[in-house]
Amino acid sequence: MSSDTSPAVSVRGLGLSYGPARILDEVGFDVAPGKVLALLGPSGCGKTTLLQLIAGLLVPSAGRIEILGAPVADAALGRFVPPEARGLGMVFQDYALWPHMSVAANVAFPLEMRGVPASERRARVAAALERVGLGAMAERRPSDMSGGQQQRVALARAIVAEPQLVLFDEPLSNLDPELREAMVGEIGALVAQLGLTAIYVTHDRTEAFALADEVAVMRGGRIAQLAAPEALTAAPASPEVAEFLNLGCVLPVRRAAEGWMIEGTSMSVGPGGPAADTARLLLPGRATLVGPAVEGRPRAEVIRSRFRGDGHVLTLRLCGTALDIQITSPRRAALGEIVGLFCPPQDLRWFADPATPSPAASSAAA
Ligand SMILES: Nc1ncnc2c1ncn2[C@@H]1O[C@H](COP(=O)(O)OP(=O)(O)O)[C@@H](O)[C@H]1O
Ligand SMILES: [Mg+2]
Repeated sequence: MSSDTSPAVSVRGLGLSYGPARILDEVGFDVAPGKVLALLGPSGCGKTTLLQLIAGLLVPSAGRIEILGAPVADAALGRFVPPEARGLGMVFQDYALWPHMSVAANVAFPLEMRGVPASERRARVAAALERVGLGAMAERRPSDMSGGQQQRVALARAIVAEPQLVLFDEPLSNLDPELREAMVGEIGALVAQLGLTAIYVTHDRTEAFALADEVAVMRGGRIAQLAAPEALTAAPASPEVAEFLNLGCVLPVRRAAEGWMIEGTSMSVGPGGPAADTARLLLPGRATLVGPAVEGRPRAEVIRSRFRGDGHVLTLRLCGTALDIQITSPRRAALGEIVGLFCPPQDLRWFADPATPSPAASSAAA
């Protein structure tokens, strides 16, 4: 169904297999017009494959994709719209420019593909280059430009035909960290000015959080969680998501008379938690404070301390475990010092342990 309120992109039950290998499985999401979705996950989790399915560079084994309300791929119906008819722009990790052709010729390519006359092409190429701050560089060669400039050329090429949807595949991963931060800002501003809908693939959570309205955390060909950055940080759906986002320390805990104990230690984290004998608990770095060590409560040894302008970044190892947590503390701490860890109960996140069913479930199974 197509209407004014259609999502810009809608994906349902999407799957891709190479022979017996399932690369993507049951992937589904919507992106509203003018919003940015980040696909965030480790290398090999299927981000590029998903982007290529949306672009029309791969044919899905299962499921369907709609762009602006129009079906562009449907495995069940055998429907497939080729990439050039999907009306989208793409920016790749390796820029994919012709190094020895002029910047203007590189940027003009999508317009040529669409049969736009030469005079109009020139004006639109100039406008696109102006937008990315390369107005004076139309006759240069990408081979003579820096990585950041080349990526701006690729950006200009992605927007020159005024697509409504732009796909980015790790566009900044070949740039050095400072330039990367500046370019994240530039891409965000460009996307907002042009009102673009964008899907942005990255393995870098800082980039995803800075750019995206919503983030899909991917693992092993599936979406583990899709939410706004603030919601992901406040309420990760699983210990795996919490660990991938580096939100803190995930502790295995077991129920005891004194409250929940950290597995293998005599430290109690207090009451709460699911109705089970064991669980996992996220001690979030952003909500954890250090203070004097208290017997029977979580304690940790300072194993690294680094000053960073807004505080001391401490790496702490929980006593009696090999588990580390990183927090920012206003005060310096000495290496080897034992400190107490304090976290308000409402900031703790509990996860039921799938490996050990609750007492009720296990007695029903017995
Ligand atoms: N043409 C192919 N044939 C077989 N396996 C592939 C092919 N392309 C990618 N893969 C596999 O699919 C998985 C996902 O790859 P990819 O989408 O590139 O991941 P990401 O972009 O997240 O790093 C990887 O395990 C990769 O080895
Ligand atoms: Mg990739």
